[in-house]
Formats: sequence, structure tokens, C-alpha cells
Amino acid sequence: MATQMSGAGGYKSIVFLICAVAALGGLLFGLDQGFIANSLDTLTSHYHLTVSQKENYSAILATGGIIGALLSGIFARVLGRKKSILLAGFIFTLFSAYSAVLPSLAILSACRFALGFAVGIASFVVPLYLSETAPAAIRGSMGTLFQLMITIGIFLISLSNVYIARSVASPDVALPMMFLVIAVFAALMFFGGFILPESPRWLMLQGKRDEAIAVLRRTLNTQAEIDLEVGEIEQVLRGLKSAGFGIVFRGYFFRVLLVGVLLQMFQQLVGINVMIYYAPTIFGYANMKGLVALMAVPTVNMLSTFPAIALVEKWGRKKLLYVGAVVMLVSMIAAGLAFQSIGAHTGAADVGELQKTVLLLAVVIYIVGFAVSWGPVVWLVCSEVFPLEGREVGMTITTMVNWTFAGLVMANALTFMEANGNASIFYLFSVFCVLAIAFVAMFVPETRGITLEAIEFNLKSGVPLKRLGDQAASGSHTQTTS
Ligand code: BGC
Repeated sequence: MATQMSGAGGYKSIVFLICAVAALGGLLFGLDQGFIANSLDTLTSHYHLTVSQKENYSAILATGGIIGALLSGIFARVLGRKKSILLAGFIFTLFSAYSAVLPSLAILSACRFALGFAVGIASFVVPLYLSETAPAAIRGSMGTLFQLMITIGIFLISLSNVYIARSVASPDVALPMMFLVIAVFAALMFFGGFILPESPRWLMLQGKRDEAIAVLRRTLNTQAEIDLEVGEIEQVLRGLKSAGFGIVFRGYFFRVLLVGVLLQMFQQLVGINVMIYYAPTIFGYANMKGLVALMAVPTVNMLSTFPAIALVEKWGRKKLLYVGAVVMLVSMIAAGLAFQSIGAHTGAADVGELQKTVLLLAVVIYIVGFAVSWGPVVWLVCSEVFPLEGREVGMTITTMVNWTFAGLVMANALTFMEANGNASIFYLFSVFCVLAIAFVAMFVPETRGITLEAIEFNLKSGVPLKRLGDQAASGSHTQTTS
């Protein structure tokens, strides 16, 4: 077969396409996650939502996410990676476009459930596809790209929703436009997905060696690179097969699963999505309704993700988790105090400037604290600590836990504030920050600079969880790559 090889070192254009479509997967995750904050008033005007209807519509994305994450492994295995991406793109396109016709609230909620389902699939399949298809040298940065795209998605939809809400007076016109913005990006992902090559690893898994090699010819530059990759895939396929869900009953796996589960639980219980979803509502309680109140959280969240990329390697995972949790703890107490002193003035025009400033600063500092630490680090550690044969099961379960607690928090936050006072929820989050710090100190390993094989060796040798990343404990497994 005639092959078109570009010069060694550069990447072929198909590689950029792979990255772009995959980036759209992360972007759509963010677009759906960030949609609520600056559309809630418009949604409320059109659908006359009560507080609990607002919460339920926001949270149903997470319910879809749980089911999507649960089934994503099956889709990836049975349909293949490419068709799973197409399926997610199709669901994204269909249901965001259908939301734009402004159906009844029940149907609109069903659409958001379906969007969550697609997010659940995309958040598993897209990183998997990238790790199997992007050339080895850029795989690491691809994982970070996905995270970054989520925060860019949250930022973009916040901005476009503010713009639409301010330039179109009628909610009946503004709301369809907001949904159509998501539909445009979704359609790009869906149609772009057709040009993607299938994952060579999946093709080899299906016994389609020739097709796999044909894909590698399209993505790699030299015959030597192709041979190396084929050799590596064959070695992996000859090795350990992925275990089923039964692996959770093996002692060593169960122990490390608890670390992942609790990390994901705390990532949500410190309250991030209350800020992502409801910051404009909360700032509204303090009578702050300007652009800063609407855009501060998504902007700072996106910008703070960039330093995180370098800091996870420089400082290590645990140090970032500690620093992030302390920053969030202090800022949540400050936000609670600000609301306590606003007291009876909630929502009124005469809220003091000092309280407003403290509240805004507290929330912004909180977001910096989360975005450089618990945001990316939890996902990273969950991708590192599971032994190879149970990585798929471990990541599926921990992702489902993330969505479960995200849903719980979103479905109850506003009612909780209404029942217990606005300050209460911030104090509650600060308690979870303290518990999170204690949990990190007692059980979370530092996984910087140690191979995944060495972590696995430690785990199976019964090394305490906290020391899983220790070089000394792993004996001969002392090389330091990641
Ligand atoms: C969390 C999401 C959150 C996002 C904010 C992620 O790490 O899992 O729930 O919305 O960060 O950037």
C-alpha cells in the first residue's frame, strides 16, 4: 500500500483532527456543565421554575452522567471507540437542538438527562480514544487538554449566555439561541467524528490487524514507529485481560478503590459545582448582578487550570491537595461570615460594599484553590492508582461517584440555603474541607515521579495506601517515568 509519510518529528494533519474532535468532547462536557449559571434567570422566566425545579433541572445532567459512565465501557468495547464518539456527538446534537424548541419542562428535563448521558460516555471514551490513537509523545498532554477544554467550555457558554440574555429581551427567543450554541459545537463533533480513524488498539482487539496497521500508517510518520506501536499493542493484548466488576471483591483492589471513591466524593462535597452552577444566583442574594458576578467564576476557573498543569509535576499531587483544601477552607469561612453579616439585607439594594467585596474575593479565591488542585488532581490520581487489569472498572466506579455527589449537591444546595440561611452552606463546605485534609493525610499516596507498575507492585505487596507511591517500598521498581 502506498503510504504518505511526512517528515519525522512533525505530525500529520489527521493527528490534529484527532485532537480537535477529542477537544470538542471535553468542550461539550463544559458547555453542558456551565450552561445553567447564566441561563437560570432566562429559564425561570420562560418556565416559571420554583427553587426545587431549578435544582432538579440542573442536577438531572448528573443522573444522566452516572448512567452514561456506567455504560460507556460497554459501548467502547462493543461499538468501538469511534462509533461511541459518534453516538455521543449524535445525542449531544439531537437533544440540545430539541431543547431549543422549548418543549414542556418534563421533556426539556429528559433532554438534559440525555445530554448528561452523552457527557458520561464522552468523558470515558474520548480520553481512552486519545490515549490509544494519539502518537505516544503527545499522549500525556492530551489528558490535560481534555480537562482544560472542560473549563474552556464552562467559560464559553457562560459568556455566550450572558451575551444572549443581555442582547435579546424576550426569554422565548433568548433560550432557543442559548441551546443552539451547544447544538452547533455538538454538530461539529458529530460530523467531525466521521473522519476519525478507529483506534488501532481496538481494531487489534477485534483481530483486525491489517486495518490497525492501515490506521497507524495514517497517524505515524515512519515504518519504525509503526512497528514499535504494533509490537507494544500486541504485548499489551497478550498480557493481563481487563477484569470484570468482580475485581472489587479482591482486597488490594477494594482498598485502592476506597481512595478513589473518597477523593471523588470530597471533590464534590467541597462545593465546587454550587459555585459553577449557582454563583450568579448566590451573588444575586448579595445584590451583585453585574458582569463580574456573572463571569468571575468561569473566567478564574479556566485561567487557574493552566498553572495546575505545571504544578502537579512540580509540587506533587498531595501538596496541591493540601494547599487547595486549605485555601478553600479559609475562603468558605470568609464567604459564610460575609453572608452572616448581610443577614436580613439578603437581596436588598443596601447590602454593604465591604460584604460584597469579601464575598466576591472569597468565591474567586476558592475557585483558584479548587482549579489548581482538587479539580485536575483527583482525576489524575484516579487514573494512576488502579492496577492495569482493574483500571477500567476503577475509573468507571469513581467517575460514577463523582456524578452521584455532584447531583446530590446540586439538587439540594439552594433548598439548604433557603432552609438554613445563606451562610450555612459555606460553613458546611468548610467542614468537608477539613475532613478532606484529614483523609488526604491518612490515606492518599503521592504518585508523582513513580511508574504505574511500581504503584501496582506496592499495592499488591500490601504496602499501606499512604505509601503506595514510595520508591523505597517498591524495591527494584525504581525508574521514574509516568
Ligand atoms: C469537576 C466538575 C467541575 C469542574 C469545574 C471538575 O474537576 O469534576 O464537577 O464542574 O471540575 O471545572
